[in-house]
Amino acid sequence: MNIQYRPAESPDEVMQSLDVTQKAFDRTPADYFRKRLELDPTLNPGDTFLALMDGRIAAVVQRFPRDMYVRGNPVRMAGIGNVGTHPDFRGEGLASGLMRQVLQTSLQQEFELAMLFTRIPDFFAEFGFRPVERNEFYVEPVPEAPRGEVGLFSRKTDLADVMALYETFTPPRTGTIRRSEAYWNGQIDFARDEQGLFYVLRRQGRLVAYIRGARLGETLRLMEYAYRDSLVDVLQLASHVAREQGCNRLRLPLTPEELFQAPAPVPIGADEEDRIMLHILNSESLTERFSLWDDDPDSIMENLFGPGEFTFWQTDFF
Ligand SMILES: CC(C)(COP(=O)(O)OP(=O)(O)OC[C@H]1O[C@@H](n2cnc3c(N)ncnc32)[C@H](O)[C@@H]1OP(=O)(O)O)[C@@H](O)C(=O)NCCC(=O)NCCS
Repeated sequence: MNIQYRPAESPDEVMQSLDVTQKAFDRTPADYFRKRLELDPTLNPGDTFLALMDGRIAAVVQRFPRDMYVRGNPVRMAGIGNVGTHPDFRGEGLASGLMRQVLQTSLQQEFELAMLFTRIPDFFAEFGFRPVERNEFYVEPVPEAPRGEVGLFSRKTDLADVMALYETFTPPRTGTIRRSEAYWNGQIDFARDEQGLFYVLRRQGRLVAYIRGARLGETLRLMEYAYRDSLVDVLQLASHVAREQGCNRLRLPLTPEELFQAPAPVPIGADEEDRIMLHILNSESLTERFSLWDDDPDSIMENLFGPGEFTFWQTDFF
């Protein structure tokens, strides 16, 4: 049996690899992965990594190249997703071989960090991935109405203002993603069918807050938000939308500073969501860029991604 690990060489080959991904994730709707690839303007064929057995694609790993903000600075991050082996070829080391290949290639291509979401953290711990704590909480809706005009997001009238607010609000939160306009547009299209709860709050025409939500039973989950002056605007806007949707609680990420501004936040359970894991690819460069004392990956994790210090907007999920 001849095994080869390499990036895809053409868009055609990427499309062929979707068959394997589909078979590996047989409970995910058929269209999901194709749409994902088509609507992400950052992807090149070289971001799809293949394991071939006698020339036939048997396992696939998708890399999503991103810049992640760490203390306000963009860090080159390899988002690892859709790790899947065709059911006929499992347990032969293919996914492991591919993981090593994608990490090694990414380091050579000057990625500093890798990140993934998973329900099987033990598998990925083998390759040096470490879990980070999500800073998500449940909060009761607040009774006060939002101060201003509430509107459903419109790409035509709101996107420029939303992007501008994102640019000032988001970079200081470690774990968030830098976005180009092309990325924004693809992401809104990709997210639309599963979310559709994107609201803006304006006062005298000026955008003061927005939320992007999703319903989880009786919970309104904020996948992303931003505000100009105060978290209160987000809480009031979200509570208003929650009441309209018949939801009786909110779930949202909160930084340590914001925790004090939210009424009685309760952390979500560790098993309520996929684990987020990070892999320090280039400890030297991170140590230097962030003036850390120690280049040991555990120490870097603790310094840069300590408890409560990691916000991931779920709208950037890959
Ligand atoms: C997980 C998956 C990619 C592994 O692919 P593979 O090519 O068989 O992996 P390898 O042969 O390199 O490694 C096998 C090891 O993976 C680990 N593993 C596989 N499935 C696992 C699971 N559900 N939980 C924990 N570990 C698991 C085991 O340690 C296994 O070792 P073993 O063969 O000694 O039992 C494959 O089972 C798959 O495609 N699953 C469905 C999609 C999926 O869940 N992907 C991960 C999403 S984050």
